[in-house]
Amino acid sequence: MNETLQTIAQRKSCRSYQNKMIKDEELQMLLQAAIQAPSAMNRQLCEVYAITNPAYIDELTETIKKVSEERGEKKPDGYHFSYHAPILLIVSGPEYDSRRIEDGSCMLQNIFLAATSLNIGSCWINQLRDTQNVDEVRNVLNKFGIPNNHQVVGCAAIGYIKQDTPAKEKKQERIHIVESNRG
Ligand SMILES: Cc1cc2nc3c(=O)[nH]c(=O)nc-3n(C[C@H](O)[C@H](O)[C@H](O)COP(=O)(O)O)c2cc1C
Repeated sequence: MNETLQTIAQRKSCRSYQNKMIKDEELQMLLQAAIQAPSAMNRQLCEVYAITNPAYIDELTETIKKVSEERGEKKPDGYHFSYHAPILLIVSGPEYDSRRIEDGSCMLQNIFLAATSLNIGSCWINQLRDTQNVDEVRNVLNKFGIPNNHQVVGCAAIGYIKQDTPAKEKKQERIHIVESNRG
């Protein structure tokens, strides 16, 4: 297996992070990996926002918690939607872009693979997608400079790994090779 395939095989979601900022050059490499992703018709409309201020991430988690609980989704004590990771990367794109989910997801996967290659933990975080259009959450996103016409595709929690977890088994039966001479 070459290095790229090894990185793909090694990627797994991390949910326990060290309370330590990753190096600037590592963050830059993750952001460059994000924008290197393919995009429909090369429009490159999705953007990535790196939130590195823990107070901002905490404000977001508190707001998401409040909004979720108002919707009847009880969150456990000590809930933190991005597991206290020191960095949250938010990928968003304009509402009018019909390919933003595909483009943004490619960016996120590039981030996860780049992080794995640097021995940095990562995890897709979804909660913001479901709560982003509630005013209180939008106000926090505005603070980050995310335009009002952007919709969040997904987020990546990023940081050094505190506690490793076993890799999830991948279901091989999902692979189908369709032969050309199938009768
Ligand atoms: C669209 C999507 C949304 C996800 N949302 C969350 C999330 O909000 N919180 C979380 O801990 N993991 C989330 N995950 C990570 C999955 O739980 C994880 O990928 C899955 O359990 C397989 O584990 P692996 O990533 O280690 O292979 C999400 C993954 C995807 C692709």
